[in-house]
Amino acid sequence: MHHVNLIIAKDPAEAGRLAADIFQELINAKPDCVLGLATGSTPLPLYRELIQREKDGKLSFAKVRSANLDEYKGLSGDHPQSYRYFMNENLFNHISIDPANTMVPSGLVEDADAMCAAYEAAIEAMGGIDIQLLGIGHDGHIGFNEPCDHFPAATHEVELEEITRQANKRFFNSIDEVPTAAYTMGCGTVMAARKVLLIATGKDKAEIVKQSFFGPVTPMVPASILQFHPDCTVIVDEAAASALK
Ligand code: GLP
Repeated sequence: MHHVNLIIAKDPAEAGRLAADIFQELINAKPDCVLGLATGSTPLPLYRELIQREKDGKLSFAKVRSANLDEYKGLSGDHPQSYRYFMNENLFNHISIDPANTMVPSGLVEDADAMCAAYEAAIEAMGGIDIQLLGIGHDGHIGFNEPCDHFPAATHEVELEEITRQANKRFFNSIDEVPTAAYTMGCGTVMAARKVLLIATGKDKAEIVKQSFFGPVTPMVPASILQFHPDCTVIVDEAAASALK
């Protein structure tokens, strides 16, 4: 039995519009809602759509708050490949959100454990995440929760898998510049969100979509835990749905 609500869109642009519909409805119902946000190329059509919809007067980010999933260890927020920089460039700088209301884990801290604990506490202090947006890695990682022998509960430091570093290398000058570690919300943090929305597009995601949502729930495929979330929507395009019958 699969609890995830699977939506098949024609292409990445339509996936972005369908995801934007879900965000728009939430933001209009709860103007100060807490958005759990994600990086990667997958959310870009959604972010472009949200920017346009605010320009068109369909929603307002003025009171919205946000918490991002993850950040590379060792990169400052001004580094063009940091996730803070990515969020500013691709979303925050183009909407009315108050920068003070946006959180991304800090990549440059002396005490990682304290930063991670404070991140969890800050999410709780905001009243929890109303909707958590996710992409998916080729190995089934969500945020930077890589396959391992358990589902990590809270925000923590992780070593990055080689497949993940290789996949993200295209954004850096060379593989040596790709950080080897990151900070990420845990699978438990994600599962605590009231609603989860995962987007997967492209043929290269077809196999992991099948494994994650139509295979066994296992920490070796971190996204599979979403099968147990009471309100999880998965939007895939036709290419990412191509391994499903
Ligand atoms: C990174 C991020 C993930 C993201 C994944 C897939 O590793 N930490 O949050 O989901 O990449 O990225 P893309 O959407 O570019 O395929």
